[in-house]
Amino acid sequence: MTELLKPTDDGLDRAAALLRSGGLVAMPTETVYGLAGDAADDRAVAAIYAAKGRPSFNPLIVHVADPDLVGRLVRVSAEAAALIEAFWPGPLTLVLPLREAAPVSPLVTAGLPTLAVRMPAHPVARSLLTAFGGGLAAPSANPSGRVSPVTAAHVMAGLAGRIDAVLDGGECGVGLESTIVGFDGDAPVILRDGGVTAEDLASVMGETPRRRGATGRIDAPGQLASHYAPSGQVRIGVTAPEPGETYLGFGPVTCDLNLSETGDLAEAAANLFRHFHTLDAQGSERIAVAPVPDHGLGRAINDRLRRAAAPRQA
Ligand code: TXA
Ligand code: MG
Repeated sequence: MTELLKPTDDGLDRAAALLRSGGLVAMPTETVYGLAGDAADDRAVAAIYAAKGRPSFNPLIVHVADPDLVGRLVRVSAEAAALIEAFWPGPLTLVLPLREAAPVSPLVTAGLPTLAVRMPAHPVARSLLTAFGGGLAAPSANPSGRVSPVTAAHVMAGLAGRIDAVLDGGECGVGLESTIVGFDGDAPVILRDGGVTAEDLASVMGETPRRRGATGRIDAPGQLASHYAPSGQVRIGVTAPEPGETYLGFGPVTCDLNLSETGDLAEAAANLFRHFHTLDAQGSERIAVAPVPDHGLGRAINDRLRRAAAPRQA
């Protein structure tokens, strides 16, 4: 049975106790819900991969609340420190060199010499991390390949019976996963577009970081294969939907569901996965999506839309 916990003192104590005993708890973050387990516990990390049905070569993000723990996990360069100063806590994940004595299971990094770390801003995630007292490995709390959850009900719909508890923190504010930045020497490289925009990063780094696409190595999540996908077939960049298609609009258009009537990209980001879940619940088989501008948060939105529209693996 999967317990539904409220983010009260009792609920947080219960969640932390489950995590300490190697259990799995879905927690709200400002981006999407994460499926958390003790990052230092091999069995807990293995259980995360099993619950999601995730290929174990796709490594996990370790979430922290304590700045001192960051230094014990990874080596923080001056460039990384500047990004931490500007964007943590918040929707930015940094991929940094793993320390040899870091308190993480080797399953977390899937054998890579680097570790992805993030300090979330969501008060419930922070309270849970503090109550637990260590790092929590947490991928998005959805079955592998499906749409990331932005409410506790979404988590339940995908993972009930396969995890110990869901901590209900309401709806996630950003609604898209974190931006992932790695380093090529000292130079930052965007590995995944997300809640912190390239423009935000440029304002701190002085220039827009390069992007690295799928190179065959595990550097970008999802690896272009179908990912973040609703059950129905998805067509993108559509201005004239065909009969039988459910139209997901953007801006002042006639449609079935609108990402943002006013054309606001932050609102559209927050609505994207929620609308995907609604389309799944409605059983929409063919989904057409209006064009979304490709700047700011629009880049992360278009990345998720392209993956949703990519050919599906069997
Ligand atoms: O917003 C988020 O980032 C959410 C919340 C829960 O924090 N988490 C999330 O996790 O989206 P996940 O596992 O769905 O996506 C993380 C991606 C993985 O797909 C993986 O490819 C990449 O991060 N990643 C993890 N460790 C890495 C590493 N050492 N090098 C390169 N990429 C890495
Ligand atoms: Mg995910």
